[in-house]
Amino acid sequence: MLPRSAPEPTRRPARGPNPVSSEADAPALPDLGHGRHRPFVLPALPYAEGALAPTISARTMHYHYHRHHAGYVATLNRLLADSLPTDPTLASQSLISIIRSSADNAARTGLFNNAAQVWNHSFYWRCLLPGGGGRPGGAIASAIDRTFGHYATFREHMIGAAVGQFGSGWAWLCVEGDRLTIRRTANARTPVQVPGLTPLLTIDVWEHAYYLDSQNRRADHVTQVVDRLLNWPFVNAILEAHQRALNPVPAQRLAPTGNLPTTTAIHTPRLPAPVPSPAPSWQVADTRAASFARLARRR
Ligand SMILES: [Fe+2]
Repeated sequence: MLPRSAPEPTRRPARGPNPVSSEADAPALPDLGHGRHRPFVLPALPYAEGALAPTISARTMHYHYHRHHAGYVATLNRLLADSLPTDPTLASQSLISIIRSSADNAARTGLFNNAAQVWNHSFYWRCLLPGGGGRPGGAIASAIDRTFGHYATFREHMIGAAVGQFGSGWAWLCVEGDRLTIRRTANARTPVQVPGLTPLLTIDVWEHAYYLDSQNRRADHVTQVVDRLLNWPFVNAILEAHQRALNPVPAQRLAPTGNLPTTTAIHTPRLPAPVPSPAPSWQVADTRAASFARLARRR
């Protein structure tokens, strides 16, 4: 029997004067469902709690969603309410704007940690899909081949980044300009801190994500997530939105002549060179961490 849940944050947002999408500052990313009014709400899971078993059991999902994720939402709303008297601008900031404005601000560590963990978890749930995982199709398949040479190389490096993250954190596949990049972040840190770096998928490697099911076998858990659960259609949707934002197609090019299929022309244009970004404040995934992935290949 599942444990009793902690009280959830309200799912009925109060009407406020400043409706704003939680993802308003990252247009390639989907609205994850935090609501357009304050307080932020806990987005519904996109599947049943047991849908990802056996890789992620219903028990793990229950604790992870109802205790950890819900707790971050409740704490974020409390911290925002406490901060509004001194900073009214917080009332109209998107969740991503709050993450960016509070990052590396010692006076707002709690606000950053909870805002980032709310967004990271809402994104993470969407990155998983019952029956997902394995070799992708669509735009991401081509991008992986261009960047890594082969899906197997990407898989090895993605697993290596997740397994090699010391302590709590996240592994990410991101797109920056026309280039895919694998990153890992510690604790609550997140690629959405950096404008221009768009996350495509993430794997939660906090122990609460896997310890009830896999105990200390993080490599086993991560390998199963990659092989069985990654939501490639979700990744493709973000990547295609990112590519459209970089290369808006003139209206006249969208008009088909005869039976010309327009999908390829719209979604796979040649992208411009990546825009150099400031040195990331998190550790770039060391490809040598792929040695950890050798554990996975032995399976
Ligand atoms: Fe988590």
